Amino acid sequence: MATVQFKDVSPYKLPRQHPPEDYIYGKYVQDVTLQKTGGYNVIGIALFGVGRAGSIHLTSLVKNPRVKLLYIVDDDQSKWKPLKDYWNLTETIFLASTNASQVFNDENVDAVVVASPTHTHEQIVTQALDHKKAVFCEKPVAEDIEKTRKCFEKAKKVGMPLLTAFNRRFDPAYSTVRERVRKGEVGHVTTIKVCSRDSPLPTIEYLKQSGGIFHDCAVHDIDMIIWILGEYPSKVSVSATANIPEIAEIGDHDTVAILLTFPSGTIGVIDLSRNSNYGYDQRLEVFGFKGMVRAENQQPVHGVEFSCGLEGLKRSPIFYSFPSRYQAGYINETEHFLNVLQDKEKLSVDPKDVLAVTKIASACEEAARTGRIIELNWNEEDHPQYQKEIGSIRSKL
Ligand SMILES: NC(=O)c1ccc[n+]([C@@H]2O[C@H](COP(=O)([O-])OP(=O)(O)OC[C@H]3O[C@@H](n4cnc5c(N)ncnc54)[C@H](O)[C@@H]3O)[C@@H](O)[C@H]2O)c1
Repeated sequence: MATVQFKDVSPYKLPRQHPPEDYIYGKYVQDVTLQKTGGYNVIGIALFGVGRAGSIHLTSLVKNPRVKLLYIVDDDQSKWKPLKDYWNLTETIFLASTNASQVFNDENVDAVVVASPTHTHEQIVTQALDHKKAVFCEKPVAEDIEKTRKCFEKAKKVGMPLLTAFNRRFDPAYSTVRERVRKGEVGHVTTIKVCSRDSPLPTIEYLKQSGGIFHDCAVHDIDMIIWILGEYPSKVSVSATANIPEIAEIGDHDTVAILLTFPSGTIGVIDLSRNSNYGYDQRLEVFGFKGMVRAENQQPVHGVEFSCGLEGLKRSPIFYSFPSRYQAGYINETEHFLNVLQDKEKLSVDPKDVLAVTKIASACEEAARTGRIIELNWNEEDHPQYQKEIGSIRSKL
């Protein structure tokens, strides 16, 4: 037999271990064997806002043995009792934002999670930092770049972490793409493409206070590109239209194409839509002369294919919405925040990247408005030190 020479020792003679890729099992083992990695005190947290994003964070926080959820602040009081009953939050205090000073003055609150509407972020972040609380803040941290910069300066001054919740950085598929690109597997990146089509179509009420498609949506895609490349663009050009009359009426866009040109020769392409009827279409492709690496759409039911009549092979639909598609990312970003608070990891979302993303999104807005190509200039101090970055979040769970 030609292959008998390849017979190895019995697999039972080899050490049994789970690779980092089996991180879901790893978490179960930790939960079952009750291994506390390093001693720590339970972290007291206050959550601001339990809408679309806040409900996701609520679930991560309530289920986490490292957390004690001390406060929920939300002006919509009709949510209080159902939340209290459903999650059995007998010790959590519910407050309206007018009484938020109780949170800031409570010494048991170590950290604040901000998932209220964008226009409320800056005030909550500033007050929390002034009271020496660590902050996890949904994007965007503030409504413009100067206010965002002030929030980071305050965080630095008081010595507290301020994490911007760019959830896609914590998605296992996207971090794998980045790891492979950073290992040089595709060589120098010549083209990076992100396709991001929202589903379901957000309400007009949300869109009116969203800050517009560039600061609400494109920031995630811009962040993906600069995070993978470790480089900021020198030029942006944009085509943007509104095919939905109600979106045109509020002066926003539902369809956008962004072209980013990088000093090293890379071209970035972002294809954005507010309304995809077949699910939340999230794809990423990185191409270089040595090869290509991409992250395709994912499905809640995978591995099932069916064929009926003559319409060809069919598969189950892709994830329908952002909470479903990025479930792992939302859990991982909370874990990362808690690890930062317990000195196990360094903050992985560099404030300089957040400011750069805001600057690029504003340049995109200007390019859409004027139809011009916008040049971007960067100083040495605008860039983070990428070589100091921490390793894979995924493998640390
Ligand atoms: N990273 C992501 O994937 C992601 C996804 C969605 C939204 N977001 C961000 O999250 C934030 C909230 O968006 P959303 O879609 O959850 O909005 P939402 O309207 O669904 O929820 C906001 C909640 O905040 C409450 N609220 C209003 N004012 C408040 C205040 N001053 N203090 C505390 N709570 C207050 C509202 O009653 C509501 O329950 C926005 O900044 C948005 O950009 C991020």
